[in-house]
Order: sequence, then C-alpha cells, then structure tokens
Amino acid sequence: MKIRKAVFPVAGLGTRVLPATKAMPKEMLTIVDKPLIQYVVDEAKEAGIEHFVFVTGRNKGVIEDHFDRMFELDTTLAARGKKTEMEILARDQPEAGSVSFTRQQAPHGLGHAVWCARDIIGNEPFAVVLPDELVLNAPGCLAQMIEAANKLGEKSNLIAVEAVPDHLTHQYGICGVGKRDGRIFEVDGMVEKPAKGTAPSNLSITGRYILQPEIFNILATQERGAGGEIQLTDAMIGLAKQQKFYGVEFEGERHDCGSKAGFLRANIAFGLARDDLRDGLRAAMEKYLKK
Ligand code: G1P
Repeated sequence: MKIRKAVFPVAGLGTRVLPATKAMPKEMLTIVDKPLIQYVVDEAKEAGIEHFVFVTGRNKGVIEDHFDRMFELDTTLAARGKKTEMEILARDQPEAGSVSFTRQQAPHGLGHAVWCARDIIGNEPFAVVLPDELVLNAPGCLAQMIEAANKLGEKSNLIAVEAVPDHLTHQYGICGVGKRDGRIFEVDGMVEKPAKGTAPSNLSITGRYILQPEIFNILATQERGAGGEIQLTDAMIGLAKQQKFYGVEFEGERHDCGSKAGFLRANIAFGLARDDLRDGLRAAMEKYLKK
C-alpha cells in the first residue's frame, strides 16, 4: 500500500497552553530548537510521505511562512558565510509543490478538519498526523505504521495506539483489542472519550492514522459526537463496518505537547537525546533538582 500524502490538522486553538498560543499557533511552539510542526513533517518525510497537506485556520499564516523560503535570511546568512545555518534551512525546506494548505473555516472538530482535505487527497489511502503528539524514536511512529500497513491487505486502516493509565482513558479515543500478531492487532470497536469506567481497554488512539479514502464519504454526513464536535473516531467506527482496522502498538515514547506538563517533558526528553546539549542540560537539571 503506497501512502504518498499526509494530512496535518493545524486549525486548533491551543487553549490548553494559553497564553503562549494567544497570537502564535501551538504548532509553532518549539521543542529544543524546532517547531512542533517541523518534527511531524520530518517524521512523515522519513516514512516516505511526498505531499504534506495542512488544514489551517485563522491566525495560522506563520505555518505557511515556516515552509517557505526567507530571502532576507538566505541572503544575510550567505553574506555572513553562516554555512551551518544555511544547511539547516535547506534541510527543512520542502520541495516546491509538495505542500498544500486548506482552511477549516470553523472549529467543528478533528473529523471535519480531515474532511476539509478530501479534494487534495483524492481517491488514495493517506496518513493523518496530529502535530501536538511527538514520538521520540527511530524509526519514527509513522514509519513503523507504514511498515505494518505493507504487511496488511490493500484496504486496511491503521491507528497507532499506546497504553494509558485507566484513570485517563476518558481523555482519548480508545479501542478494543481483537486478534493479535505481536504489536499489531485487529481493532474490536472504538469509542471517543469514553465515560469513566466504560473504556473497552486502556489502549488510546495516538495522533497517527492511515486511512482509506472511503472515510471522506462517511465524514461528509457524520453527526456530532463527543464535545459536540465531528469526531474522526466516530467516522472510523462507520468505516470499520466495511473495512479492516488494525491497531499498532508503536515503539517509542509519546509526548503530548499540547499540554503544559507534556510540553516541558518533551523539551527535556528531546534535549537529553541531543549529543550537543545532553551534558549541559543534565548538569543544569541536577543543579535544580538539588534545590
Ligand atoms: C484526538 C482524537 C482522539 C485521540 C487524541 C490523541 O483527540 O479525537 O481519539 O486519542 O486526539 O491526542 P483531541 O486530543 O483532539 O481531543
């Protein structure tokens, strides 16, 4: 199954990390020295994705700028002989014509955001990547899913899952577990944000999906669900009546960077994973932990 395109829903308001996100999109928050959105685009590139589709909203223009060239910067860096910085910019620059932007004009939910990308995706399977969830691992989470997808049938859908403590299941989409083969299992039912004590398991849907294009027909008429929003999980429940859904227990540590504690943890984890920063960061942390 060739997956060429990925959808990045980036229209959310980021209310959990206010005031940081009042005038700046949460997807531009930096983990160490890169915005969140760059991490997930890199993860998608590594997985072989060729086209990057951003579903944006009001006040998100800076995301588009981030993936454009900055002539003033390029010229100044070149004049000053700043080679390393020029290489960083060139490395992060998507190929011309490989990005698309469309707008979700009102906050109707994740399902609606994905539906907004239907014309750009067309009739082929695609990935969905939620930028506020980062997974620290090599190979990345999406690469692991695409590897799993290649072992499964053509019309398969996949969701990345991770176990969460029982008292947190009501914050996520949760799936039931059917026949298992190692880290991959058949999904036996899904529910978005189950009421406390009703979750079918503790396996939460992480922000990585591989979906068949038939999801768009379902999304077109999907009724509002949890939180009064059009939920992707509800549309997936509909699609699971026609096609197979598999869960992939991925390798790696998930970080919810859309919460303040998760954002801080991610900065520490990604900082400690960097050869150029590890020693200094560790020394600073030891100092503060002694206080
Ligand atoms: C969304 C999905 C949910 C998933 C979660 C992962 O929820 O609807 O199924 O578990 O992302 O972060 P949200 O966090 O947008 O409420």
